[in-house]
Amino acid sequence: MAKVKKTFFCKNCGHESAKWLGCCPACGEWNTFVEEIISKPTTSAVGINNSNSQAQLIGDIDFSHELRINLNSAEINRILGGGLVCGSMVLVGGEPGIGKSTLSLQIALNCPNLKTLYISGEESAQQIKIRATRLGANDAQCYILSETLLETIIMQTKEIKPDILIIDSIQTLYTERIDSSAGSISQIRDCAMQLLKFAKETDTPVFVIGHITKDGTLAGPKVLEHIVDVVLQFEGDNNHAYRILRATKNRFGSTAETGIFEMQHNGLREIENPSEILISQHNDSSFSGVAIAATMDGIRPLFIETQSLVSTAAYGVPQRSTTGIDVRRLNMLLAVLEKRAGFRLAMKDVFFNITGGLRISDTAADMAIVSSVLSSNFDIPIPINCCFCAEVGLTGEFRPVSHVNQRINEAARLNFKKIFISKYNKLEDKQPSSIEIIPVAKIEELMKIIFRKT
Ligand SMILES: Nc1ncnc2c1ncn2[C@@H]1O[C@H](COP(=O)(O)OP(=O)(O)O)[C@@H](O)[C@H]1O
Ligand SMILES: [Mg+2]
Repeated sequence: MAKVKKTFFCKNCGHESAKWLGCCPACGEWNTFVEEIISKPTTSAVGINNSNSQAQLIGDIDFSHELRINLNSAEINRILGGGLVCGSMVLVGGEPGIGKSTLSLQIALNCPNLKTLYISGEESAQQIKIRATRLGANDAQCYILSETLLETIIMQTKEIKPDILIIDSIQTLYTERIDSSAGSISQIRDCAMQLLKFAKETDTPVFVIGHITKDGTLAGPKVLEHIVDVVLQFEGDNNHAYRILRATKNRFGSTAETGIFEMQHNGLREIENPSEILISQHNDSSFSGVAIAATMDGIRPLFIETQSLVSTAAYGVPQRSTTGIDVRRLNMLLAVLEKRAGFRLAMKDVFFNITGGLRISDTAADMAIVSSVLSSNFDIPIPINCCFCAEVGLTGEFRPVSHVNQRINEAARLNFKKIFISKYNKLEDKQPSSIEIIPVAKIEELMKIIFRKT
């Protein structure tokens, strides 16, 4: 019988140690060591090189063949930086039930003229078939394999030679090289390394689904995120059908890109014009406390509705509550309002919401947030054909934002009649004629123009 060998691994970074340690010497985290049984030693680390590799001049490297595979989805292509790079490894993480399996099966089924292999360690072939029927499966060249042993998977993949390999999920795989149970740190690390080696050697792109832990990070060692080329995070709100796919790491494209999807009974539908669904289409402007912010989502303008409710505080300490933005940002903006606009906050509760369950971090939404708070406080509605984009400084001035011309063009396209921007923003000479651009320097000026208050 093989000698049972035990080692300790750091749950955070995958550092290996012969004995238990309180603090990981590699990443500095406390209490992260867990014991795992390894009867077969993790021999030579699996890399992407073979022994007879030679250094080449960069000019001599041949890349005449098509480098990127066009997936039949504009949003996913854009997030990946213009298509799926051959030989790349993409890790998709997300909460349980968010739609990772749906997304990857949809990718597998919707690629015309491509052979795909979908491997599931969580569901049987029949269960995948049920989902495929729900997604409206056509006669796609999609092979299904329900398997968890990595060696069998690689053998099957070499036989079928798919153009895209999809693994659902890395936590269910195990390799014979190691004796610890599937999902353990050493198993995940070794399986990921072997898949990476396979991807680079055969130039096959590999999609890998990863589970996340309770605190929202990808389960398994940190090296998993280091070795893959792209990490996609699939997020959403349980109360909303909207799902957001964003790249947190991308070796072949920008990480500023996000894609918005809607979960429907027949799968995930791409939303090409998110602004149109995020802004409620009131015909009249009878609601106070609503302002439209012209934010950017990567390089794409995204118009969102901000809502505030200011009411008299019932208890001693006023309440501040936000959804969609950081509560500290709201507190800062309220402090600026108090100082610069004489807005008495000590006796007021302020509730703030961004519709659609989105979270934003673009500071260009500041002006809209401030306007919605003021609108609710005065109970004066803001005309529905106005939108706002400027950052608020601590001195109460409106600061310029990036991509202002793109935001103005999008506002004109969405039929807004007025856009309030910072006075200090540089504009292009040519602007759309259908929209009035109103430059504002300070909060006092904005109050005068919109609410006629001095
Ligand atoms: N018939 C249906 N109609 C609408 N949504 C569905 C239907 N069946 C499943 N879903 C959605 O799909 C989700 C499950 O997706 P799945 O890809 O299995 O998630 P994951 O793999 O991330 O755990 C469910 O949470 C539900 O929102
Ligand atoms: Mg799943």
